[in-house]
Amino acid sequence: MTTTYSIAVIGAGQIAHTHLRALQSSERARPVAIADVLEERAQQLGSEYGLTAYTDYKQMVLEQKPDLVIITLPHFLHKEAAVWCAEQGCHMLLEKPMALNVAECMEINAAAERNQVVVAVGHMQQFFAEHIAAKSIIASGQLGELVMVNDKRWGNYFQASRPAWFLEKAKSGGGVVINLGSHSIDRIQWLTDSWIAAVRASMTYRSSTDVEGSAALFMETTSGVPVTVSLSGYKGVPANETELLFTGGALRIGIRRGLSIGTDGTYMPVTVPPSADAFVAQLESVLDTVQYGKPLSISGAYGQSVVAVVEAAYRSHETGTEQQVSQIQELLRANRK
Ligand SMILES: NC(=O)c1ccc[n+]([C@@H]2O[C@H](COP(=O)([O-])OP(=O)(O)OC[C@H]3O[C@@H](n4cnc5c(N)ncnc54)[C@H](O)[C@@H]3O)[C@@H](O)[C@H]2O)c1
Repeated sequence: MTTTYSIAVIGAGQIAHTHLRALQSSERARPVAIADVLEERAQQLGSEYGLTAYTDYKQMVLEQKPDLVIITLPHFLHKEAAVWCAEQGCHMLLEKPMALNVAECMEINAAAERNQVVVAVGHMQQFFAEHIAAKSIIASGQLGELVMVNDKRWGNYFQASRPAWFLEKAKSGGGVVINLGSHSIDRIQWLTDSWIAAVRASMTYRSSTDVEGSAALFMETTSGVPVTVSLSGYKGVPANETELLFTGGALRIGIRRGLSIGTDGTYMPVTVPPSADAFVAQLESVLDTVQYGKPLSISGAYGQSVVAVVEAAYRSHETGTEQQVSQIQELLRANRK
């Protein structure tokens, strides 16, 4: 008989729908409840997905005693909710970025350790079919030695549909770097199987908000590979891709637009084996850790490593100097567990 896990969702905003759809397609997931301070949102998703709706997530957790919670709150509430849920003995899938800063991530990881619960951070791009295929090409060594990574993400960050809290630094932690850059940092670290060790960043603040609208990041991995990340949230031409250059060719990932390989002058499309929807695969991976203790590539320690790079980028912009990413050794040890 399949073991099932009761699951409650905290936050009924934009991304909650995607998680709820993923929950519906997992045999092991038993979604039970949803909470949002906005009663109408909780009620609407509750009735759409057959869940008990709450306006207070603590009441929901105390009454429903879920095995796992999915936390989809604004960034400034991640730490408070995650620590409290860990203390109630709930495993959790916490949306990215893990928290506002490294100190908060450490509090979450310590609470998880104390209470022996799994913390997973929603770096779901590791489950994109193109990324899985790219990682296996990189690991095969068929393109030679990796010499550089260039990543870019451009798009209108300040569109009217963006929830207002994203545009207040105190609530979001920042703009394109913490929100979109955390995906770039994750895919670079995960694809290259290394950590970002140093960052030099330059940002602009040209919107009517206090969050940055663009950033150029020059980074280096622990393997000594140079990386550029170009992020722009101003209107223009959208882009979302990662290019990896090797001694014997190049790999281009168009995020959700396919994978190409170039060894002889032009890029040729790579046939990518189909895989499950990324949010479904992410959920199954978390449940595999909860059920069988399998290693988790999106662990709390890993989530902290991404926030450490984000934090170093902000420090670099403020000081005008290159910043070493702290806690690399500590994270390496934690991830080896
Ligand atoms: N993985 C991805 O690709 C992806 C995509 C979008 C968003 N996200 C992440 O998901 C998280 C949520 O983003 P979103 O776009 O869904 O934001 P959102 O504003 O649409 O949703 C957040 C919800 O939390 C609710 N909320 C606020 N305070 C609360 C509280 N104390 N208790 C209960 N509910 C409360 C709000 O009313 C809102 O409905 C963020 O961490 C974001 O970065 C990830």
